[in-house]
This record gives sequence, C-alpha cells and structure tokens, in this order.
Amino acid sequence: LLAANRQSMGKWVAKQASECLRQAIEEQGKASIIVATGSSQFEVLGALIKQPNIDWTCVEGFHLDEYIGLSEEHSASFCRYLKERFVSRVPLADFHYLYGNQPPTETIDRIGGLLRETTVDVALVGIGENAHLAFNDPPADFQITDPYITVTLDEACRHQQVGEGWFESIEDVPRQAISMSIQQILKAKQIYCTVPDERKANAVRATLEGPIDPQTPASILQWHHGVHFACDRAAASKL
Ligand code: GLP
Repeated sequence: LLAANRQSMGKWVAKQASECLRQAIEEQGKASIIVATGSSQFEVLGALIKQPNIDWTCVEGFHLDEYIGLSEEHSASFCRYLKERFVSRVPLADFHYLYGNQPPTETIDRIGGLLRETTVDVALVGIGENAHLAFNDPPADFQITDPYITVTLDEACRHQQVGEGWFESIEDVPRQAISMSIQQILKAKQIYCTVPDERKANAVRATLEGPIDPQTPASILQWHHGVHFACDRAAASKL
C-alpha cells in the first residue's frame, strides 16, 4: 500500500491484520500476533485497538525485540511501549514480554519455547534506517533457527535510536538486545511491514528493489508469500 499519510497507513494495516485475526479465531478458536514497537507502529496500534469484532480474549501476543538491561520504567523500553499502547488497551488471552532487566537466556528459553509451539498468524514489523528487521542489524543471520537471539547493536543502529529521540545520547543506548530471529519472523503466516518517513527511503528501496542480502536484513521479506508493505509517500519516494 502507498498511503497518503501515516494515519491512513496505520488504519489500512490495522484493518488487514484484524481480518487475519478474526479469520484465525473463526478457524482455530485462537490467534497469535507478533507486535513491534517504534514510531512506525504508533498509528497501527492506535487503529488496531479500535477494530470492532475481535475477540481479544482468544488472542496471544509475542514481543518482537527488547534492549538488554533497560528497565520498564525507561521511556525507551519496548515493554513499556507495548503495555501502554496495546496490552493495557485490549483484553488479551496473554502477552509474552521480553523483560529487558531479567536474565536474557532465561527469557529467551521461556518465551522462545512458547513460540516454537505456536503458529503465528500475524506479525507487525517495521524496518530501521539500516534496513534492520527487529534488531537483526546488517549483516543479519538468515539461517539461525532459534526463535530469539541476543545481538550486539551496531553503531548506526544505536545512533538512530538517539536520532529518533528515544535516548538523550549514544552512551545511554544499550549495546545489546534480544531480537526475534529472521527465520522466526518468516514463520508468521502474514507479515505487515509498516514504513513511514523519508529517513527510511533508502532502506525501503534496498529492501524492495535490491537483492536478498544479509547487508539489507529486511530484503529477506521478498522471499515470503504473505508479506504486505505499507509506506507513506516519503518512505516510497526513492522507489
Ligand atoms: C527499532 C526496533 C524495531 C523497529 C524498527 C523500526 O529499532 N528495534 O522493532 O521495527 O527499529 O523503527 P520505527 O518503527 O521507528 O520505524
């Protein structure tokens, strides 16, 4: 979808995603969703929580990625973001947080174990300026099959987080994160990738028009049959 603005982009993704959830509930009696964070998801989640006729008590949610060592009180915490914008707004069956201030191996084993037993219906994702998918910075590991991995964030990624206003300085940005792996993201039946903003125009072009290459992590989405891109005009300006 090429949307006129962020609002219509968010509404479109929310509507499509909610139809997938409804259909999954109808067919399986339950549904599951992976939820991303970042500014790209503001309008998506804002519209998703208002969608009618979703029995949220049948929906289980999984957390895409989180900084290691960041407490929920920090304004850049993805746990905090998800709680405020999604989990506290709808009566989910369950939501599996990756708590940044708990031992990462334990978190990965526990939530990764649940994810291995789940067929994910919908994944909501965004991409970074370096075309990262979740926190899989370039060069991304396209092969690893563990549901979650610990990653060391690269300089470009950490600078972007300051540029987006989540942290005051680069020193404040954690160096490590837990990220859902590329293979696990690709297991979702439908993937909605939402990308607003001119800052992302180069990443969008490389993702959609470049080769599938670990240097452009999100380019792997070209391989998936149920992937849907939603961009605003600025993000699509270099296509
Ligand atoms: C962040 C997060 C990702 C997110 C991406 C896009 O760093 N780790 O989960 O999808 O970058 O950011 P934004 O939503 O601001 O476009």
